Amino acid sequence: MAGPGKVLKPPTRPPKGLRKAKLETPAAASPAVGEPTATPVAAALVPLARAGGAPAAPAPKPTRAARPRSASRRKFLNDAFAIPAWLTFFSGTGLFLLGFIQRFMFPNVLYEPPTTFKAGFPGDYAVEEFSQKFKELYRVWIVREPTEIFALYAKCTHLGCTPNWMATEDKIKCPCHGSGYYRSGINFEGPTPRPLERVKVSLADDGQLLVDTSVHYQYELGQWSLPGSNLKYS
Ligand code: FES
Repeated sequence: MAGPGKVLKPPTRPPKGLRKAKLETPAAASPAVGEPTATPVAAALVPLARAGGAPAAPAPKPTRAARPRSASRRKFLNDAFAIPAWLTFFSGTGLFLLGFIQRFMFPNVLYEPPTTFKAGFPGDYAVEEFSQKFKELYRVWIVREPTEIFALYAKCTHLGCTPNWMATEDKIKCPCHGSGYYRSGINFEGPTPRPLERVKVSLADDGQLLVDTSVHYQYELGQWSLPGSNLKYS
């Protein structure tokens, strides 16, 4: 009993029996602050709504062992094709870049033999020799006659093929359309309209023959009588 003048304070803690009862109450039965309080009817409808098609909880992720075999095979095939594809792509790109750099960093130079060369001493050639020594590299024959030496340019005057020296027939024959030339270079058969051309020949300081393939002499223009079209020899 409280005495007079003594103010009774409300108990700060519920009695022991009540506390236990509250702890044993399920959480669903005591909604959090702010949540709507579920009425008994609503609580009864919740299981029905779930059974009627409410979104199910996400299925647990299958473990590696539980994964389907076809999926693993598909992944393997994807990897197997992806690596060569990337390799091809990168190598192709690399080659393209190399070509690009090579094209623009280095000049597009055509390496050709010099137009002037020494062909040895006149005495190195026997009289009436038709030398093919320089045909491969300079496209020139050196022809030694009893009184002169000249250099014939081995280019057919029909369409530009390289003719052949036929030693047994003592003539020059073009393999393309059959034009024929004497050893002097004068044409005598086939479709070619004119003789072969001669190139400049002179004596170098050391006494060797000096041939210049950039200077040509044409018979039909009367140029075979010019100095340089031949070298008089006795
Ligand atoms: S190119 Fe020599 S005959 Fe035609």
